[in-house]
Amino acid sequence: MCGIVGYVGSRNSVPLLIEGLKRLEYRGYDSAGVAVLNGHGLETRRAEGKIAKLEQVLAVTPAEGGLGIGHTRWATHGPPAERNAHPHLSNDGTIALVHNGIIENYAELKQGLKAQGYVFHSDTDTEVLTNLVQELYGGRLEDAVLAALERGEGTYGIAVVSTRDPGKIVAARKGSPLLVGLGDGEHFIASDASAILAHTREVVYLNDGDLAVVRKDGYRVFDMKATTLDRPVAKIDWELAQIERGGYDHFMLKEIFEQPQTLENTMRGRVVLEDGMSKLGGINLSHDELLTIDQVIITACGTSWHSALIGEMLIEDLARIPVEVEYASEFRYRNPIVTPNTLCIVISQSGETADTLAAMREAKRRGAKTLGLVNVVGSTIAREDDGGIYLHAGPEIGVASTKAFTSQVVALALLALKLGRKRQLSSVRGREIAQALLDLPAQVKQILDRAPEIEALAERYKDAQNFLYLGRGYNFPTALEGALKLKEISYIHAEGYPAAEMKHGPIALIDENMPVVFIAPHDAVFDKVVSNIQEVKARRGRIICLTSREEHMLEGLVDHEIRIPPTLDMLTPVLASVPLQLLAYYIAVKRGANVDQPRNLAKSVTVE
Ligand code: F6R
Repeated sequence: MCGIVGYVGSRNSVPLLIEGLKRLEYRGYDSAGVAVLNGHGLETRRAEGKIAKLEQVLAVTPAEGGLGIGHTRWATHGPPAERNAHPHLSNDGTIALVHNGIIENYAELKQGLKAQGYVFHSDTDTEVLTNLVQELYGGRLEDAVLAALERGEGTYGIAVVSTRDPGKIVAARKGSPLLVGLGDGEHFIASDASAILAHTREVVYLNDGDLAVVRKDGYRVFDMKATTLDRPVAKIDWELAQIERGGYDHFMLKEIFEQPQTLENTMRGRVVLEDGMSKLGGINLSHDELLTIDQVIITACGTSWHSALIGEMLIEDLARIPVEVEYASEFRYRNPIVTPNTLCIVISQSGETADTLAAMREAKRRGAKTLGLVNVVGSTIAREDDGGIYLHAGPEIGVASTKAFTSQVVALALLALKLGRKRQLSSVRGREIAQALLDLPAQVKQILDRAPEIEALAERYKDAQNFLYLGRGYNFPTALEGALKLKEISYIHAEGYPAAEMKHGPIALIDENMPVVFIAPHDAVFDKVVSNIQEVKARRGRIICLTSREEHMLEGLVDHEIRIPPTLDMLTPVLASVPLQLLAYYIAVKRGANVDQPRNLAKSVTVE
């Protein structure tokens, strides 16, 4: 989604802003722009399309200045076009503003401003806010911004500069992340730490309702009542190399191949093999609380929702606690049953997904304890939950989630193990699960070593128009995830279904042109899945079968076999999802799709 970066210091801000915007490209955007302040006033450059276009504009009409703000836009109000790109200028040309989020009452505000003679050049809510700041300006930029935000309803992360009050960037956040980066004689603002990681690791995360005035030699954070706040300085422990492609063609491929390492990182220090137990320091649940939980609700979106479905089975299997899985976007608009003994698990790679955040707040409001399974350290969900399990998968830049998914499943297994061992799960069974978890990284490595086989398969099926993914039990969610991976990056229509449910409808689609991917490891439902494979075979569907050992029942039945190492049924989704990620990746590449930035998608969806 939209990205913000800002700089104030002694260097020329423009190359720093461009560099920062490029680091934010992965979030998805359709236009970009910068505004810089220098001795001649405000200079704005904007372009529709990729940042390379903005660079071309800057090459023709260069700009320079020690204070600047930049933005990548993901269209909400008005189509992608230069006139709708940020920064927006106020009518008198003294104020430039960039904005992530949505001002919901912009139409009403716009009408009022029009009546006062303001003219609008874009379709955006942001331009309305910019002119409102001009209208309310009375000598100090931060006062005008605060007054404008009091009148605006909705969500925002904004950065504002003005020729009338030079030397400062005013930033504010409500519902859209923003941080201040601390340097020596220079300061930054950014919506995402990766934008400024090359220059500083010390950051101050703004909370909802915070404003900040950021200058070359300092910054001040305050609230909507103008009271100064003391926000802690956090240290970012990512390495720059983690947000670079490091020789891989795409971030997605790099992240798929990182999984042996990222799974190890998720488990580091958390698996106690001899006790068959897990140690989860941050969950903030006492022994008694762990025992009194009588209901679990897991809420998430997209890929994280798929891992939630696996989490449901894990917790019910190991701990025998009833679990409900809810799309975060649905949870808040119905009337869910939440008791004081409800644990609400919130899963989010980014920790910023607007629907998931809102669902977590709703669960809290209704009295549930919240537990975040989040990857991005310091993100809003991680800061607002009651306790958490960080995934430690490192920055995920590819828009399609891969390594975060497998880490989520492992984190859920660790949690289920803990809940189970606190209840009726035996230490023998616990040890078996702990060992199987520890074996996963090496098993994923074995699968990755066979990537060329999957690439060959991708060549064969790259022109298919539709795909079906079928699985049962623990691998029904894997089927959903496999289908999502393929559709979002290759634009091939793909559906995931419970294998047996297929005969209640989707079977009508099967003919010799329909590739059907079966996820059929040798687990408790294997024989049942083989019957479903027979049904597809009888209708001449093309069968790609993922299985975990040589199976004579599959001979002559499947067109292609992909082998994964054997593991416990409950952990098969971790292994099975890896070849499906690779299949989706190679098909998308062979179709010429932009794998890391698929059309219309954003890495973290910060609007409802
Ligand atoms: C798909 C994908 C999305 C995200 C979803 C939730 O590959 O990445 O479906 O899983 O937008 O994002 P997070 O986990 O950041 O809340």
